[in-house]
Amino acid sequence: MSGGRLVVVSNRLPGAEPGRPLPAGGLASALSRALDETGGLWFGWSGETGDPAAEPAVTRTGAVEYAAVDLSEEEIRAHYEGFCNGVLWPLFHGFDGRVRLAAGGYESYRRVNARFAALLSPLLRSGDRVWIHDYHLLPLGEELRRRGWRGRTGFFLHIPVPAASAWERLPGAAELVAALAAYDLVGVQTERDVAATRAVLAAHGTGVAARRVASHPIGIDPEHWRTLSAGEPANPLEPAAAGRSVLFGVDRLDYSKGIPLRLQAFERLLERAPRWRSEALLVQWSAPSRQAIPEYRAERARVEALVARIASRFAPGPPPAVGGGAGPVWHEMATREASSIAAAYREAAVSLVTSHADGMNLVAKEFVAVQRPGDPGVLVLSRGCGAAEELREALLVPPGDVGALAGAMAEALEMPLSERRDRWHALSARVGGSTVHDWSRRFLEALDAAPSAGDSPGAGA
Ligand code: G6P
Repeated sequence: MSGGRLVVVSNRLPGAEPGRPLPAGGLASALSRALDETGGLWFGWSGETGDPAAEPAVTRTGAVEYAAVDLSEEEIRAHYEGFCNGVLWPLFHGFDGRVRLAAGGYESYRRVNARFAALLSPLLRSGDRVWIHDYHLLPLGEELRRRGWRGRTGFFLHIPVPAASAWERLPGAAELVAALAAYDLVGVQTERDVAATRAVLAAHGTGVAARRVASHPIGIDPEHWRTLSAGEPANPLEPAAAGRSVLFGVDRLDYSKGIPLRLQAFERLLERAPRWRSEALLVQWSAPSRQAIPEYRAERARVEALVARIASRFAPGPPPAVGGGAGPVWHEMATREASSIAAAYREAAVSLVTSHADGMNLVAKEFVAVQRPGDPGVLVLSRGCGAAEELREALLVPPGDVGALAGAMAEALEMPLSERRDRWHALSARVGGSTVHDWSRRFLEALDAAPSAGDSPGAGA
């Protein structure tokens, strides 16, 4: 390991998530632990609107500094909502029809990345290792190289990598692919993503960089989730469940997560197997997300219309009060505390992770971590999630298939205890065998060992 500091860069700094409690067991804590070991710096957006010309606001906690920069209103609109979440997000998740190409979006994205590089460069010291996260900052490594940075620099993409043909729809496709070559290591979630990244690099004649691409599937901190669950002995699904078996979903309200799909599948289950009208409850907790973007508001309306339709078809009486009543669906638009989510995982009979496409999906792993070993619930998992590459003992379903999902719901609700235990034991070993701390340690070891891109000709100078 190099003796230098670790420098983490992500779009949002930990804690800069409006309305969202800091996910203490997630990425933030994994990286904080890695940062604590060497001392370091975490650089990113404050989550606030402000003067883009201002210097970063630096605070220190122990051996770690946090450097926060604001985005201007124009940058939030054109870069964050426009190019990052209106173009890259839908395209990389296979939602080509939701891509909103707006004039100036790509240019704003490049300007923000160049500005981040200009503000970060003077903070870097010789021997530092720089670890850049996610699609908002894909060209940042190259921008740092342009400013003369030669140190170890890695990139991790948390979302899926699309086929080469999808990249071609991007303004600046060739520039973005070339920008990957500036990294010593490009980490992605799955082997499927490695193949897709290599294919797009080869298609752009950047094949030499393909050797620096590797899969590093992100994990969770299972112990942290067990502690959270143990600290919350009450069952947050009661009294709504009233003795019924709960199928549970918890997601950011994002169209990639397949929330309408799971509602449609549940509706089909109730049509075909009337016993579940009185014996099952679907609980969906949706955290509001990116509501300035029309596609997200439309998704919310779609979900709420389906919930109302199912209630009108199958509820025995008037529409249920929020979280109560005897209706078959409890949908809540809220950002719950992690401890409440942990307790709900523990009490649910079935977890529904039904994304059309998802880089990893940590809900699947969190659910596994907190089950009661003697009486575990069943994980229904879409093959569209990166997690399906590891969690093979889940009930795997093809993405987007309402009939298959309805069938899996029935199978999960009826699964004998012995099979539930067998599947859970295998899943639990996988989740426990590759934690988020293993992930960050292995990525950084691989970054140290990778051939250097910083010295290669054409890396930018
Ligand atoms: C996904 C992305 C993250 C992002 C998070 C929340 O998990 O991979 O980079 O931070 O969504 O989205 P938001 O737009 O609120 O930051």
